[in-house]
Amino acid sequence: MQINFVKSDLPDEGALVVGTAEGEDLTGLLEELDGKTKGAVKRALKAARFTGAKGQVVELLAPAGLALDRALIVGLGKADKFDGAAAESLGATAVARLLTSGEKTVTVVLQAPKRVSDDEEAEFAARVAQGAVLRSYRFDQYRTTQKKTEKPSLAKVNIAVGDPGDAKKAWRSAEAVANAVFFTRDLVTEPPNVLYPEEFAKRARKLEDLGLEVEVLGEKEMAKLGMHTLLAVGHGSERESQLLVMQWKGAKDKNAQPIAFVGKGVTFDTGGISIKPAAGMDAMKYDMGGAAAVTGLMHALAGRKAKVNAVGICGLVENMPDGRAQRPGDVVKSMSGQTIEVLNTDAEGRLVLADAIWYCQNRFKPKFMVDLATLTGAIRISLGLEIAGLFSNNDELAERLLAAGKAEGEALWRMPMGDRFDKMIDSPIADMKNIGGQFGGSITAAQFIQRFVNKVPWAHLDIAGTAWFEEARGSTPKGASGYGVRLLNRLVADHYEN
Ligand code: BES
Ligand code: MN
Ligand code: ZN
Repeated sequence: MQINFVKSDLPDEGALVVGTAEGEDLTGLLEELDGKTKGAVKRALKAARFTGAKGQVVELLAPAGLALDRALIVGLGKADKFDGAAAESLGATAVARLLTSGEKTVTVVLQAPKRVSDDEEAEFAARVAQGAVLRSYRFDQYRTTQKKTEKPSLAKVNIAVGDPGDAKKAWRSAEAVANAVFFTRDLVTEPPNVLYPEEFAKRARKLEDLGLEVEVLGEKEMAKLGMHTLLAVGHGSERESQLLVMQWKGAKDKNAQPIAFVGKGVTFDTGGISIKPAAGMDAMKYDMGGAAAVTGLMHALAGRKAKVNAVGICGLVENMPDGRAQRPGDVVKSMSGQTIEVLNTDAEGRLVLADAIWYCQNRFKPKFMVDLATLTGAIRISLGLEIAGLFSNNDELAERLLAAGKAEGEALWRMPMGDRFDKMIDSPIADMKNIGGQFGGSITAAQFIQRFVNKVPWAHLDIAGTAWFEEARGSTPKGASGYGVRLLNRLVADHYEN
């Protein structure tokens, strides 16, 4: 998708998209269109009961008096509430409507319906572009019989704005982030026969081209380090488990204390010997969504040359039933030295994270750690599929994450933690067990992880509900969302760059 920023002028080809706010007078441009079409715009808006509410769209095809193929009028919601998210959804709506419409070019006119500074306008323009690009994501490489009419036609998005130069500058970093989200979505969408731990690591290695340092530890090296809880999860798999370690050194002082991100990368989760039911098991290909988001974040930081030192660590395993697989009842020793009674082999994510997180704090002594994991079905029951669960031992970090999520449209909700939950994972024969019983399942999972954090400021994001969208929403098509990349990129940009 080609993005251009242009001066506001009525285009004479392709499609035109104009936003208008709820209950406000039509913009000058819409008045002009109405004049040229001899009143067709106002008639159409009235006939469609258009009020300007967010998400409303009225489409005029082949409007008489104009050279354009079509004009789309999009509701922006309340004028005083217009913000980055509204700008993003304008771009997303344009692409959702036009991607396979036959149209090749669209001009989206950005006229903020309230007074904004030049900087804000440039940011909004970049958000329109980001919404457009993110909504255009497709994963078609395994389709061989697609008809021409099913393929995208839209190739060019012009964004008409007061100062195209400023907008273009703002777009540079927003584009790097969009590219990273696509990278994450590709990893998550790939089928599990193609994307297993070594293949994931191989794709991450390509990020060396962006300036990342990438190391990959195999099973032998992890065994030497004592990472037996991570390794136990992979015992039933023909595929070798991997620990992926990525470093971005963008701060002035390359030795300055880094920030760290850790991802659960179960490339397929059958449940192991505690096997899952058949229905819907295919969804467990996205059980590496946390690792994909961490890798995408590193892609974004390197892509926009963020002035920060950051570490990304992913535990990559496949959880399979087999003669060599771990059994319910096994006791395994983690790298931290703590022992775990594995009562359910389907509670495997926390076992992977236990060693990855211990390794992370032990080797890098980071300022903080944020882990991302498709960890529990219970978080989907608690929060639904639009909000991820946030667990943290640090209020400042938690507040910053909540704010970043809000700004990027990747919502979080903070969940409780504490001793009353922690005691639920005590085991009669080992230091802890890997399940907490019927109740508070997402919280006991977080308590388990916290036992490997070693007092570092830490947050855990349970993204089991948000890594995969059952329906398109905003700038995310149905499927892999890339949730977490933008949220964490914003966290870094707002607080940790020098
Ligand atoms: N990967 C799953 C969690 C999951 C469920 C992710 C649905 C995405 C969608 C995780 O490994 C798991 O199986 N968790 C169990 C834990 C239980 C055995 C304590 C669960 O949630 O049922
Ligand atoms: Mn599982
Ligand atoms: Zn899992």
